[in-house]
Amino acid sequence: MLASKRILLIIGGGIAAFKSLDLIRRLRERGADVTPVLTRAGGAFVTPLSVSALAGEKLHSDLFDLTAEAEMGHIELSRSADLIVVAPATADLMAKMAHGLADDLASTLLLATDTRVLIAPAMNVRMWQHPATQRNIATLKSDGILFSGPNDGDMACGEHGPGRMSEPLEIVTAIEAALANGPLSGKRILVTSGPTHEPIDPVRYIANRSSGAQGTALARALSALGAEVIFVTGPAEVPPPKGVEVRAVKTAQEMLEAVKAALPVDAAVFAAAVADWRMTEPARNKMKKSKSGLKQLDFTENPDILATVAHMNKGRPPLVVGFAAETDDVVRNAINKRKRKGCDWIVANDVNPATGIMGGSHNDIVLITHDGTEDWPRMSKTQVAAQLADRIAQALG
Ligand code: C5P
Repeated sequence: MLASKRILLIIGGGIAAFKSLDLIRRLRERGADVTPVLTRAGGAFVTPLSVSALAGEKLHSDLFDLTAEAEMGHIELSRSADLIVVAPATADLMAKMAHGLADDLASTLLLATDTRVLIAPAMNVRMWQHPATQRNIATLKSDGILFSGPNDGDMACGEHGPGRMSEPLEIVTAIEAALANGPLSGKRILVTSGPTHEPIDPVRYIANRSSGAQGTALARALSALGAEVIFVTGPAEVPPPKGVEVRAVKTAQEMLEAVKAALPVDAAVFAAAVADWRMTEPARNKMKKSKSGLKQLDFTENPDILATVAHMNKGRPPLVVGFAAETDDVVRNAINKRKRKGCDWIVANDVNPATGIMGGSHNDIVLITHDGTEDWPRMSKTQVAAQLADRIAQALG
């Protein structure tokens, strides 16, 4: 259920922080990846070493950690998660969230994110009941923040009443519910990804430089919003995301068959870089060098998978999205491609080697729809995926 889900866990400064160590363990048992962030006050209750050892990941605690900023800025850190969980959420952290303060890493991440946030409050009963906290709770609820607890019970301070942090398994259940009830739950979405390999002989093939990074990020983002994702992938460099149905193929013809077998779907996204041609008849045995040089190779055009699906009379997915990797005149070529292929949207990008996009971590895209073109600022492939997944969720509404 939580396989491959990415949880950014912010541990605030409260005695309940010790339960967050168990929460990390429970989440990892269920296959989730946990990226921990410890506030300064949180560090007074649990040690950075125990948090990062249990999470199996680097701990983030400092807003001005330049290494982290170079590796993964705080904006990226806040957005690459499927869900942000704050446990324990102290009265102070909740007040910061309600008022939009950003004076440390945790509060900055919470202000910079567009990912959903679930909090598990923990505080003394009087603090919980204080009108200031109650005002903040109302603000946070109207901002769409999800809550787990608090529970009623005895507290470490000796008092009794609401304010006890939910138990780790209750928080896990709230996380599972939050992830299952995404805007794409109940939708079935096909994503093609990676290159195809077209055999020349048993040991050689024709391929391209696609790493599969964008298609993989997209499949993960769609799944994080609750979609059932069928991921048809060629031999990509990037491993497929967990929690999606993977159909691995090698050639364009195999990809077409896998795509047809996956229909019907609510949306189909064709991010694969399919080889346009294949050898008409791949050699049965390894081709040998000879004095007369290389024999002429005969090529046949591969089926256009995107155009085939987009032009289907029966069973065409309600939303068909293609990609257009261009090296020149990107927008004009992509607008023509949208018409020619019959798809609803085209995600166009410039794959000139100078852009570093193909095989790189960032992407510069123009989204072309029926309504016109939108130039998106350069952002990471993870962010492109999250925004595209949001747009798909809106379109399937
Ligand atoms: O024509 P071009 O290869 O630039 O088109 C790119 C789009 O078409 C991508 O969405 C790609 O996945 C899809 N495509 C396909 N089958 C092909 C060639 C491209 O689905 N044979």
